[in-house]
Amino acid sequence: MTEEIISGSNVISLLLLAQEEALSLIKDTSKSVEELKLLLMGSKSDLARLTKQISRVPKEERQQVGVIVSQVKQSIEQGLEARAASHPGQKTKNTTFLDITMPGERPPNGNLHLVTQAIMEITRIFERIGFTRVRHPEVDWDWYPFESLNMPTNHPARDEWETFFLEYPGKPGKDPHKQKMVLTPHTSNGQVREMEKGELPIRMINIAKCYRRQIDVSHTPMFHQFEGLYVDRNVSIGNLKGVFDHFVKQFFGASRVTRLRPFHFQFTEPSFEVDINCGICLGTSKLEDGSTCKLCKAGWLELGGAGMVHPVVLRNGGIDPDVYSGFAFGWGIERTSMMKSGTKLDDIRLLYSNDVRFLQQF
Ligand code: DAH
Repeated sequence: MTEEIISGSNVISLLLLAQEEALSLIKDTSKSVEELKLLLMGSKSDLARLTKQISRVPKEERQQVGVIVSQVKQSIEQGLEARAASHPGQKTKNTTFLDITMPGERPPNGNLHLVTQAIMEITRIFERIGFTRVRHPEVDWDWYPFESLNMPTNHPARDEWETFFLEYPGKPGKDPHKQKMVLTPHTSNGQVREMEKGELPIRMINIAKCYRRQIDVSHTPMFHQFEGLYVDRNVSIGNLKGVFDHFVKQFFGASRVTRLRPFHFQFTEPSFEVDINCGICLGTSKLEDGSTCKLCKAGWLELGGAGMVHPVVLRNGGIDPDVYSGFAFGWGIERTSMMKSGTKLDDIRLLYSNDVRFLQQF
């Protein structure tokens, strides 16, 4: 049976149509590369069917059709290769395509939490002037954060520390200092604990988690404080001021100084709030263009509490207040660190919400 003659240009148009369809099908990622290869280049494909038609094309047109067949074949092959390279390792029914020449993917780099970075820096600054970082319990007898610090049971000052009380597992013993347990609401619980070690002089920096019943945009129920305590013969307010100025120059920069503002704490006498001169207007409260600084209050920002250790506290720690004196201070890590970076968080809870998009910025 002789086959009907068909025109070469017809076959060429059909080939070009098949090529166009094939290239758009290759983009369909629901099909694997193997499936596509079979569909577009297998024995039942349009390409195979049209290739067979060459014999029916008039002799003088055959060469031209042959050239187009190989061009179409090449372009489908290239399309399949590109697809395989852009989806390496894509699972197919029976095989996994793995291009071992592709560069590897680096695992993301971690970074230290903002608070961890601040803890490390603060520790380093105080260690350089002879302080030692110590650890004291974060779950403690209420004697240490309260009674021992001159705040007897039912003293109204206790209300300022919105404390979490814990049920003691079992029955408390006879020791009057070991009756109630708390999640420590401030690092000052470390003061008498440190004195109980019986070694003088004391130069401690106690950094720990603190807990208070407060949660809103500017409070988290868990936060960190660093507590300094220096006890020796002849410790004066001058020493306290010198240590603060050293700290702020190291931590915030050489142009920073502190001032002491009278205040009241049960466990220090006299007591102060420590302010630092504003980093923007450097304490002048005026900017270069004559306008008033919006960051600070009249040139100063509040850092935290401090004072000379109360004689009752020294006595509770077994130290004779007639021979020894000391100073103490307790400041929030989150607040101090935010003040340094100038980071103004709308919601401080972001620090502990584990959102890496936030945490990676520090
Ligand atoms: N513990 C106090 C607080 O949490 C801060 C403080 C004030 C600590 C005065 C001190 C100090 O050591 O002397 O608010």
